[in-house]
Amino acid sequence: MSRTPLPYSQKLLDYFRHPKNQGPMEGADVVAKAGSPACGDMITFYLKIADGKIAAISFESYGCAANIGTASYLTEMVMGKTLREAWQASWKQLSDDLGGLPKVKFHCGILAVGALRRAIRDHYAAHPPVPDWVPSEPTEEEKGALEEEEMAEKIEVKLHKE
Ligand code: FES
Repeated sequence: MSRTPLPYSQKLLDYFRHPKNQGPMEGADVVAKAGSPACGDMITFYLKIADGKIAAISFESYGCAANIGTASYLTEMVMGKTLREAWQASWKQLSDDLGGLPKVKFHCGILAVGALRRAIRDHYAAHPPVPDWVPSEPTEEEKGALEEEEMAEKIEVKLHKE
């Protein structure tokens, strides 16, 4: 049986095949994970923060090409930016910049942005006060990451019952 390749743009494929800022970081100020090891779609961001700016960022992903490509692009996009600017990066912007994601892969970009926002929240949880531009409720991207985690938990519980 042949499978039709997903319509990824050349740009996304380039970021997937030659990921930027990939790998763990020694001495990171914040390490934030999103996704679930149970389903394998797992992403971690490592950040060094200086004067409210992202001085260094890297990621590790066990997700698909879309997740690796969007996360890789996201690291370049927010490097050197203030945390507020980095917070504003949306999955839609990532998708548009990368020439669009196939519909079934929207959640992969959402997971990348959700993980970065979690890292920013974690930073302010450790170094209050939390600025007023950080909403008290989770954003759509963060909810997307949470939904993946909840879904994976449900699958795991179900598997253990069978
Ligand atoms: Fe799960 Fe892309 S990260 S399918």
